Amino acid sequence: MKVAILTGGGDCPGLNAVIRAVVRRGEQHGLEFTGIREGWRGLLENNHFRLTREAISGILHVGGTILGTSRTNPFKKEGGPERVIQTLAENNIGAVVAIGGEDTLGVAKRLFDRGVNVVGVPKTIDNDLSGTDYTFGFDTAVTIATEAIDRLHTTAEAHNRAIVCEVMGRHAGHIALHSGMAGGADVILIPERPIVLDEVCQYLRTRLARGKRFSIVVVAEGAQLQRGKDEVQTQELDEFGHVRLGGIGAYLAKEIERRTGIETRATVLGHIQRGGTPTARDRVLATRYGVFAADLVKEGRFGQMAALHGDAIVAVSLEEATKALHLIDPKLYEVAEVFFG
Ligand code: F6P
Repeated sequence: MKVAILTGGGDCPGLNAVIRAVVRRGEQHGLEFTGIREGWRGLLENNHFRLTREAISGILHVGGTILGTSRTNPFKKEGGPERVIQTLAENNIGAVVAIGGEDTLGVAKRLFDRGVNVVGVPKTIDNDLSGTDYTFGFDTAVTIATEAIDRLHTTAEAHNRAIVCEVMGRHAGHIALHSGMAGGADVILIPERPIVLDEVCQYLRTRLARGKRFSIVVVAEGAQLQRGKDEVQTQELDEFGHVRLGGIGAYLAKEIERRTGIETRATVLGHIQRGGTPTARDRVLATRYGVFAADLVKEGRFGQMAALHGDAIVAVSLEEATKALHLIDPKLYEVAEVFFG
């Protein structure tokens, strides 16, 4: 059987490790592969190339994706789903391995409902996908953010400043909470908890009173002020209806300085969190997901996604994986709060 592999949505360290694992395991099962260029767009435009063991050699540790990616939603295009199904039929493609987050896998689920044989692999630095404990790419993003926070600490201390570090994560605070805890942040602000500016400032004043003249505030890009924060996000929407987030860090830095008199700077880590080589943990997780996805295809278990439960790789339905966002467990936030101020 010929199987298509695609990577959709924002790129993420470990995509190439999954592609390599799917092809290596799949070839052992006698499957043949074609790589779809730039996510669902490649199936709309019949744009793909043969993926062999030689083509995926040497990519385990490389960031980005050899397939390219896009945020294309076939369900937003006139006749889109029909074109995807036609491309698959014309090329004799019997199954698709879709590597993506809630948007890409949401499309996969809807195509499965229309009879397409799809298997999913959970990708995103945001770790906001249900049905799995962890997505690959998250560990790398947290590692990069933690190293950045360590670096911000020394410069903040040297200048007696507060530094606000804005990290990615969309509407979930996983990157902020994990990197903030690992990096010893003095306050961590996440989308799941509205920001109370008076509280934030009070934590910094308490530190000042204890002789700590520098502070690190980690804020998730999707964190919101208690009264709503339209002023710090663009109104631009992508094909999945998401606004582009960003700006909360600069806003907070200005407000903290105004309210406390502490000199404050903002640093936005941005796409640095997504680029470059995956951590060892992400390479292993991506490899396990890829091998399992190839097994699912061989066994004809479509409409399923590879998932991590504890330390076991299991199958969950695409429906379960995409029905709600995986948000922060309040108990973990309570642990982080012990170290605020
Ligand atoms: O979903 C991954 C992510 O990096 C989010 O954390 C962030 O909000 C978004 O993608 C940024 O998207 P883009 O690469 O389109 O700017």
